[in-house]
Amino acid sequence: MFRTLRSVLRFRRFEFSARKRRLATAANIQDLRSIAQRRLPGGVFDYIDGAAEDEVTLARNAKRFGDYVFDPRVLVDVSSVDTKTQILGKERPLPLILSPTGFTRIADPEGELAVARAAARAGLPYTLSTLATRSIEEVAGVSGGPKWFQVYVWKDRGLVQEMIERAQGAGYEAIVLTVDTAVLGRRERDIRRGFSLPPKIGLDTIWDGIRNPGWTWDFLRSEPIAFANVVGKGRLGGDPVSLSEFVNSQFDQALSWADIEWFQRVWKGPIVIKGIQSVEDALTAQSHGIDAVALSNHGGRQLDGAPSPVELLKPVKQAVGADLEVYCDGGIRRGSDIVKAMALGADACMIGRAYLYGLGAAGEPGVDFVLEHLAQGVTRTLALTGRPRLRDLDVGCLRQ
Ligand code: GLV
Repeated sequence: MFRTLRSVLRFRRFEFSARKRRLATAANIQDLRSIAQRRLPGGVFDYIDGAAEDEVTLARNAKRFGDYVFDPRVLVDVSSVDTKTQILGKERPLPLILSPTGFTRIADPEGELAVARAAARAGLPYTLSTLATRSIEEVAGVSGGPKWFQVYVWKDRGLVQEMIERAQGAGYEAIVLTVDTAVLGRRERDIRRGFSLPPKIGLDTIWDGIRNPGWTWDFLRSEPIAFANVVGKGRLGGDPVSLSEFVNSQFDQALSWADIEWFQRVWKGPIVIKGIQSVEDALTAQSHGIDAVALSNHGGRQLDGAPSPVELLKPVKQAVGADLEVYCDGGIRRGSDIVKAMALGADACMIGRAYLYGLGAAGEPGVDFVLEHLAQGVTRTLALTGRPRLRDLDVGCLRQ
């Protein structure tokens, strides 16, 4: 009996790092979401996880990937799988770009620095947000990897120009103009929670703080969260505000196609327009000499009832052809989602929430986990579908 018992007993060495212990229980990005939900205060988790109004767009983004199934080929030599691709003229190991996310330090004190380092290790472009909580220069200081800068167009065009010039000076390779945020979407979870940025820890949230001691301790020990790219410039970066109050007062609602030329004069390098949601606008972007469009509905956080990027891919790519790069975001949680998007014509995919779940669950190693999980998922899916190279993918690889 003892021999049998001994043969089936398995003791793992105790892991002293709490982050690694948490990661060891996760098998996928959905598990990281659950861990982040347990670890982060409700308001912080809901800001990351939530979307606009009835969150119909959020749910649809994820669901649409499931509507496509593969048309696999077997008995194909898949002993060597190649996931490399070109993004804006540079070879990358995977067709993946890390999207800009605002206020990343609310998920973990290292914030954008942790994400930029993980992206650099994976050799993938990291996009720093205008609403970042680490500055353009701080991020460039920790990451020698490819970096892009995302631009929200504020009314103070001088400030926008200054940020773009700083990004140019710090070696960022491309700018990403987010164009789906003329006004802020109505995020009802934030309204219910009275969520402000930076988050306030007042009497009302003390209970949340007690329930999430790990996050609260990290948050209180680190320096105050601010709009790192603009601290000290007037009112910006100071007191807590609601995001909608901030966006609706600072963002330029008059922005139009006529302004694109201004960016082309100010920025010497590739320009990506993020937030395109129709074939017509993709064609207009192309006629303005833009280098890439990111099909995106801002993760369902803006217009509820918007089309899912994945369902726009085929018609957009058919209309614009090979000259304009087309990216796809919205609900990518597995390598197989990336492979489906590539088969439908994407040149690369983008993730935001997915890496924030990793960051909120386990800090920087959590972001490494997400990038590794997606890379392995792409490799495995290519092998299992009998298409060993990304360039073998086309719509014929899917049944709809
Ligand atoms: C900011 O870009 C947000 O979606 O909250």
